[in-house]
Amino acid sequence: MLSGKVAVVTGAATGIGAAVVERFLAEDARVIAVDVADQVHDRAGVLPITGDVADAVTWRRVADTARTEFGRLDVLHSNASVAVRAPAHELSEDDWDRQISVNLKATYLAVHDCVGLLREARGAIVLSSSVHALVGLPGHPAYAAAKGGLVALGRQLAVEYGPHVRVNTVLPGPILTSAWDGIGEADRRRSVAATAVRRFGRPEEVAAAVTFLASDESSYITGASLVVDGGWTAVKDSA
Ligand SMILES: NC(=O)c1ccc[n+]([C@@H]2O[C@H](COP(=O)([O-])OP(=O)(O)OC[C@H]3O[C@@H](n4cnc5c(N)ncnc54)[C@H](O)[C@@H]3O)[C@@H](O)[C@H]2O)c1
Repeated sequence: MLSGKVAVVTGAATGIGAAVVERFLAEDARVIAVDVADQVHDRAGVLPITGDVADAVTWRRVADTARTEFGRLDVLHSNASVAVRAPAHELSEDDWDRQISVNLKATYLAVHDCVGLLREARGAIVLSSSVHALVGLPGHPAYAAAKGGLVALGRQLAVEYGPHVRVNTVLPGPILTSAWDGIGEADRRRSVAATAVRRFGRPEEVAAAVTFLASDESSYITGASLVVDGGWTAVKDSA
C-alpha cells in the first residue's frame, strides 16, 4: 500500500507508533522514526532520529533528513504524546504547557517544516488524536484540550493544503500500550467493559487504520476523523 513512499512517524519507539513503523515497513515504505527516547534502532528501511517533537530543531532535522537522504516525503504520522493525570486545579502550569506542546503544537511545527515536501509528493498526514477529543474523562484537562485541538487542526490543514495533501485524524480508544502501565486492574476492566467488543485494542489495529489513511486506498478521504475504539464511544451504560 505504501510501496516506494517515505514516511515520518513520531512516538515511534513504543506502542502505536512502533506498530505503525512495522506496518509501514511491511507495506514497503521507508521510515524516518522519531522519538524522544533513544530506543529506535537503525535497521533496513528505518532511519531513527532522537528528538523532542515539541522542539522546532527536531523538525528542521527531520525535513533536512527527508530531503537529503530520500529526496522526498510522502507521509507524516504525528503520533507522539504525553499525558499527566490531574484535575485542572492540581495540574502545574509546566505540565499543562508540556502536554499542549507535545500533543498539539508539535503538529504545527511538523507541518511548518515538512508541508513543502509533502506537497511536492502529493502526500498524506495522519494525526493521532484520542476519544478524549469527544468525551470528558476525569483528570485529563490539557490532554483532552490538545486532542480536541488536533481534530480541529487536522480539519483546518485539510482545507489549507487541500489540492495537494490529504489530512486525516485517528481517534483511538483503549489500546493496550505502555500508556496503560500506571492504570490499575479495576480501571482496565471498566474500560474494556465499556467497549462493544469487550476487549482492549491492539496497536496493530490502529496501525491498520493509519496505513489506510496514509495510502492511496483513502484517496477521496480528507478532513475526516476515524474513531478506532472497539465501540467505546458508541456504548452508554445508562437509560
Ligand atoms: N493507548 C491508548 O489507549 C490511546 C488512546 C487514545 C489515544 N492514544 C494516542 O495514540 C498515540 C500513541 O499512544 P501510545 O499508547 O502508543 O503511547 P505510548 O506512551 O506507548 O508511546 C508514546 C511514544 O511517544 C514518545 N514521546 C513522548 N513524548 C515525546 C516527545 N516530546 N517527542 C518525541 N517522542 C515523544 C514516547 O517516548 C513513546 O515512545 C498518542 O498520541 C496517544 O495520545 C492512545
